[in-house]
Amino acid sequence: MIEATPRAALAAAGLLALAGCAAESEPPAPQLDEAAVLAASLPVAQSFQAELQAQLKAAIAAGGPKDGVSVCQQAAPAIAMAQSEASGAQVSRIAARHRNPAGGVPEELAEAYAALEAAPLKDGKPNRQIVQTGSGAQAKVHVLSAIPMQEQPCAVCHGTAIDAGLKAHIDSLYPGDLATGFSPGELRGALVVSWDAGRFLK
Ligand code: HEC
Repeated sequence: MIEATPRAALAAAGLLALAGCAAESEPPAPQLDEAAVLAASLPVAQSFQAELQAQLKAAIAAGGPKDGVSVCQQAAPAIAMAQSEASGAQVSRIAARHRNPAGGVPEELAEAYAALEAAPLKDGKPNRQIVQTGSGAQAKVHVLSAIPMQEQPCAVCHGTAIDAGLKAHIDSLYPGDLATGFSPGELRGALVVSWDAGRFLK
């Protein structure tokens, strides 16, 4: 099963403790239905990954790695936006060692990201973490799905032995690139599917 982040677990323990001493007449605070959050998020994450990988492989096969770079640069945000519109969630990619400087790890997700870094796979599948942020109308719930590094096709652009010409092309687009030197199995990044928490309270 999915492990709640320590923070979520603490919050849950706190709620339980409160419930224990609350007067019986008080209704219980609404709880986040984590199973429903996951059920809604996993198809969004999976179709993002499938769509991007299909476009990436097709572009590399047709035009080589430089065309693949264009796909990652342009198709990834376009797919994320289309998925967001279709699902009502916000879809994004984050990474501690990132290529796109806009894709760093927000502080509120850092603990969950570290847990994915420690164990990118769980039972052979990408590990996942659920994080709640904000409160009231601003409350959000985020599902982070690990993106493990793979040899093919990822190593061409994120591995330890990137072609010099390709690296120069990448550096011209991303001067501060941190996303190289990964080995298969390491955490390359995380896909984040974010929702208004209100729709999952029960
Ligand atoms: C053809 C080169 C290329 C290949 C192959 C490639 N990537 Fe990337 N990757 C990029 C580029 C370029 C970006 C920056 C995209 C952007 O501007 O958002 C990127 C960004 C990412 C990001 C977002 C975080 C960041 O670093 O900015 C993740 C996660 C990622 N790639 C994972 C992968 C994985 C996993 C694979 C293998 C399935 C892969 N990539 C294959 C070029 C590539």
